[in-house]
Amino acid sequence: MANRNPGNAFDAPRETGRIPRVITEVRLRHFRCFDALDFQPGPGRTCIVGQNAQGKTSILEAACVLLRLQSPRTSTPVEMIQAGQAACALEGRVGDSHLACRFAHGSRELMLDSKPQSRSDDYLSVARITWFANSDLELVKGGGSVRRRFLDFLGVQSVPGYRKALRDYERTLRSRNALLKEGRPRREVLAFDSPLIEVGEVLVKVRRALVQAITPLAQTACTGISGAADALSVVYVPGCAEPFAESLAASRGEEERLRQTVRGPHRDDLEISLNGLKASAFASEGQHRSIVLALKIAQARHLESLHEKPPVLLLDDIFGELDAARRNRLISSLPADAQTIITTTFLDWAEGHPIEKVFQLAEGRLS
Ligand SMILES: Nc1ncnc2c1ncn2[C@@H]1O[C@H](COP(=O)(O)OP(=O)(O)OP(=O)(O)O)[C@@H](O)[C@H]1O
Ligand SMILES: [Mg+2]
Repeated sequence: MANRNPGNAFDAPRETGRIPRVITEVRLRHFRCFDALDFQPGPGRTCIVGQNAQGKTSILEAACVLLRLQSPRTSTPVEMIQAGQAACALEGRVGDSHLACRFAHGSRELMLDSKPQSRSDDYLSVARITWFANSDLELVKGGGSVRRRFLDFLGVQSVPGYRKALRDYERTLRSRNALLKEGRPRREVLAFDSPLIEVGEVLVKVRRALVQAITPLAQTACTGISGAADALSVVYVPGCAEPFAESLAASRGEEERLRQTVRGPHRDDLEISLNGLKASAFASEGQHRSIVLALKIAQARHLESLHEKPPVLLLDDIFGELDAARRNRLISSLPADAQTIITTTFLDWAEGHPIEKVFQLAEGRLS
């Protein structure tokens, strides 16, 4: 079993009594292109098959938002609201829990088991997910912020207190940067150093431990998908030297010149290489996809080791440029006992792989 307590930076995961269970129903109302839709996935593998622009990704997004209150497609909830409507609403069942959320312009309401929730902690403890979509290819090709988001998504779902630490760090950083930008006296900036250092050190410790935990899992998955052709390496590159306090003090001149905080976990990154070469520069399209899928499988395996059950896998259009052999090996590499929802435009890869439910999506209806 993987380390239950990355870096001992936080307490061990809280036993909430809410072991992650399967989604049995997702209801969408005024969400993206749907007026109303009811989706009932099976406990094993479910496929949603449909042509382009039918709403496949929107259904997966709805499941993700319902469970994690976060869209992997947008940070602006208004975009999820069906054009011309004032609000969108989602509800559904995960095991014996009932979840409901509603997003309007500028407001959000949550209900857990029919009780309004002013905080999201209990609501978010119901289920965990791992998401993959084409936009995740940015994990290899994009900037450091994408890789930090990947670590944060995992941290929030696996380390109690991580979400608060992240929020505190971001808030302190914003205040400190505002002072630097305005060119305020140094003593005013220094007042934010202790809180920034305290919570920043925690983030570095946890992220380092998370990368240590998922790297061997990602390597195994990558070897599996590539048929042992590709060796993956993932290295955590902190955005400051340790100790953070010294790194911050040493960057004073640069900070004053650039008018922002230049060292800290907001500059953390991951160095991803394949067969000894920097993946973003040298990997092929198929290899990019394999690396990202391997990282996502590693995320799922790590969550499984902590919670004794794999998270729900939401896989949007996973095959892309993968050749038939890689596709087959990918399906075999997915955690077999995870509830998995896959969207696809074609089903010809499915032969020989157990699929429990197949839905056709056309003209706003599942059949
Ligand atoms: N807020 C919104 N209101 C109304 N329609 C929307 C909204 N957001 C997206 N759409 C539309 O929803 C439709 C379905 O989009 P979605 O991305 O879910 O399709 P898809 O089946 O995944 O397509 P593809 O196979 O091309 O990925 C698109 O026509 C899109 O323009
Ligand atoms: Mg899509």
